[in-house]
Amino acid sequence: MNDQRLLACARLCKGKKAVDVGTDHGHLAAYLITSGICDSCIACDINEKPLKAAEDTVKRFGLDDKIQLVLSDGLDKICPDGVTDIVIAGMGGELIADIIDRAEWIKADRVNLVLQPMTKWDHLRKWLYDNGFEVVSEIPCEEGRFVYSVMQAVYTGVKPDYKCDTEYLYAGRVAADTEDGRKYLLRQAERLETAGRGMINSREKRSAGEEYIWTAKMLKKIASANDRNENDDYN
Ligand SMILES: C[S@@+](CC[C@H](N)C(=O)[O-])C[C@H]1O[C@@H](n2cnc3c(N)ncnc32)[C@H](O)[C@@H]1O
Repeated sequence: MNDQRLLACARLCKGKKAVDVGTDHGHLAAYLITSGICDSCIACDINEKPLKAAEDTVKRFGLDDKIQLVLSDGLDKICPDGVTDIVIAGMGGELIADIIDRAEWIKADRVNLVLQPMTKWDHLRKWLYDNGFEVVSEIPCEEGRFVYSVMQAVYTGVKPDYKCDTEYLYAGRVAADTEDGRKYLLRQAERLETAGRGMINSREKRSAGEEYIWTAKMLKKIASANDRNENDDYN
């Protein structure tokens, strides 16, 4: 497997038994087993067609005894026994939050969550923050034309000790210490700037728009400051 986004998800799995929610082709589930990261995996999907594709992958790699295929809306049909990691990748942030919200057992079992939103990352970060989940780390990764962030989160039941402001909602815990990290921050800054410019002409949204533009400037500064530090090392 050479999908950087899914490889980043795999790097954040650390337990024995993973659930890959919305498995589609089943590539991640197969990789988690063949690379020795997990002993077993439940690969689930809400649709039969992707689950059939996952079944083909499982057969191709001879992993029938290691990967269980389940037709399920989110985690609704998943038995929590022994589950250490849950990966929810390639979906919108609102859907990811809703899937987590419906599975109370995630909290009691302190399951390691690996989340990769394609859109609405701000909604997901806020939802996690408001519901007692701490984002422990994020891995930025470039795949094709896009730069994504993969989040690792766990339920703690208390408010995390970082601020949940606009900068956090867009940039999360991504640092500017790698090329992918800098790219992620710059792209998020561009998004904020575009949204902010669209807001400043409206009386009601003006101050929020100004805050977006200011935050975009901050993110650009953070990304380029690290650029300079790195160049300084070579001089
Ligand atoms: C864009 S694909 C992502 C596949 C893979 N996780 C990845 O990141 O490459 C989204 C998959 O999630 C499945 N899906 C969408 N909503 C779901 C839900 N509520 N529960 C389980 N699977 C869902 C879709 O059927 C589809 O196979």
